Amino acid sequence: MQGIFDLNGQRAVVTGGSRGLGYGMAEAFLEEGASVVIMGSSARTDEAAAGFRERGLRCHAVRADLSRREEREAAFHNAVGLLGGLDIMVNAAGIQRRYPCEEFPQEEWDRVLEVNLTAPFHLSQMAVREFLKKELPYGKIINVASLMSFFGGFTIPAYAASKGGVVQFSKGMCNELAGRGININCIAPGYMDTELNTALTADPRNPRYQSITARIPAHRWGGPEDMKGIAIFLASHASDYVNGAVIPVDGGYLVC
Ligand SMILES: NC(=O)c1ccc[n+]([C@@H]2O[C@H](COP(=O)([O-])OP(=O)(O)OC[C@H]3O[C@@H](n4cnc5c(N)ncnc54)[C@H](O)[C@@H]3O)[C@@H](O)[C@H]2O)c1
Repeated sequence: MQGIFDLNGQRAVVTGGSRGLGYGMAEAFLEEGASVVIMGSSARTDEAAAGFRERGLRCHAVRADLSRREEREAAFHNAVGLLGGLDIMVNAAGIQRRYPCEEFPQEEWDRVLEVNLTAPFHLSQMAVREFLKKELPYGKIINVASLMSFFGGFTIPAYAASKGGVVQFSKGMCNELAGRGININCIAPGYMDTELNTALTADPRNPRYQSITARIPAHRWGGPEDMKGIAIFLASHASDYVNGAVIPVDGGYLVC
């Protein structure tokens, strides 16, 4: 009998799956029996997929710069071809740029919005078309939001705008899709110790690092492993009646 969290036979695309939080989610799906394409721009994408395959897991790599519309469209279709269909779409790729707001360069604003907001919407759209092709439409979209979907942060106005947008388009799509067998939800990670945050974590004496750490009720920063349970829940039948949610995974930061 199939359990409600079972992912055997499920087919997933995870952008940004070569490292960090995307890697943790891809690993969770693979360990639960899914086939996964990790999509990313660097050579690490191929290396990560090869590492998974060495462990006997069903993982492919598709290289694409997701800031380029044609490239992500080709990559998406390539991924669906490799998997023979699609059941789960995870948008985890993201970038950060830090400047005082009055100096924030226009080209950096455009790049952050393209990678963090436009690409996830475009990939969600393509995933929905794929899900609707099934005789009984079915699919799960998981978008990685942020605490910056709620807060404004410091020196990161483009990132905050992009993550606010991710939540809002997910809610908008949810209203059209919840009655058609498709779930779209967001995860809002808290402060996670990944390469995205090296500007904050590189020096433990950094006062910003210290003030953030002091506020986390769980007394630690999170990591890729902390994304696994929520990713499996949102990708599986366990979440069939969960629609348009934004679920914090933050050690309690949001309520402290
Ligand atoms: N680390 C945190 O504290 C934190 C908190 C909240 C949300 N997030 C979000 O989680 C997601 C994963 O971040 P992370 O912390 O693992 O960071 P990370 O820097 O370790 O990983 C980001 C991933 O995105 C990929 N990527 C970036 N630009 C790309 C492009 N143009 N084309 C293809 N791939 C690209 C990178 O190759 C990498 O695999 C991001 O969306 C980030 O905004 C992170």
